[in-house]
Amino acid sequence: MLRGGRRRGTVTIPSPNIWHWPEIYEIENAAQDHAGALAAELQRHAGWSGAHIVDIGCGTGYHLPLFAEQARAVTGIEPHPPLVGAARERTADLGNVIVLQGRADAIPLPGSSVDIVHARTAYFFGPGCEPGIREALRVLVPGGCLLVVDLDATAGHYGEWMRADLPRYDPVAVEAFFERQGFELARIDTEWVFGSRADLEAVLGIEFSPRVASRARQQVVGTCLPVRYRVHCLRKPRIGSGGA
Ligand SMILES: C[S@@+](CC[C@H](N)C(=O)[O-])C[C@H]1O[C@@H](n2cnc3c(N)ncnc32)[C@H](O)[C@@H]1O
Repeated sequence: MLRGGRRRGTVTIPSPNIWHWPEIYEIENAAQDHAGALAAELQRHAGWSGAHIVDIGCGTGYHLPLFAEQARAVTGIEPHPPLVGAARERTADLGNVIVLQGRADAIPLPGSSVDIVHARTAYFFGPGCEPGIREALRVLVPGGCLLVVDLDATAGHYGEWMRADLPRYDPVAVEAFFERQGFELARIDTEWVFGSRADLEAVLGIEFSPRVASRARQQVVGTCLPVRYRVHCLRKPRIGSGGA
């Protein structure tokens, strides 16, 4: 539950990193998942070849072209108008991509029209986001998959820095919430690999408070950063499978 009794996913949650520094966030996205472990995990759950895949909270649309290489159709959903514009600009030449303004709990698509719903660094999915989960299940076809990808704040230096900046964030409670909702969990170790030390330090500067970013810069040597992700997967029951 958020301040004022509002439920997570039913409001747009400000995202200072990508809202204020989209060009540095672009560097961050490019550094992520260098060896492709995360992409392989997503494919293991739900390959998107020939599928309709929706990216909720797509930001500037960084991941849309990758999906568009194999998918039949790709829909980016983003609530923040400047980012809707950036994602449309990025994908203007891709005939199988559209970008719509919307939110996790208000996806402007018909029911049972999507094979995969993907949401990355999607802090708007967490305790209290049941309306967003219900909405994803509404648009998914039976057997379709909701994939929520998030940073694992329990692991490594990166997790330690997250916990230092977000003392009220309880990663164990977040995981327990997803488990109660019936999600399967996988932890994926990745490495963020930057082209230069300046790039790495700039990214630390948009992700953490000045105090924590300064500590992080001292703790990291070189241009690589180990980061663990959580991938939460919920499959919509097939008709007749006895599920809800
Ligand atoms: C940390 S950014 C990640 C962007 C993108 N997924 C990526 O990996 O590049 C989180 C995004 O979620 C969007 N967002 C915030 N609240 C949302 C909501 N309730 N429903 C859908 N998206 C939301 C923000 O505007 C922002 O673009």
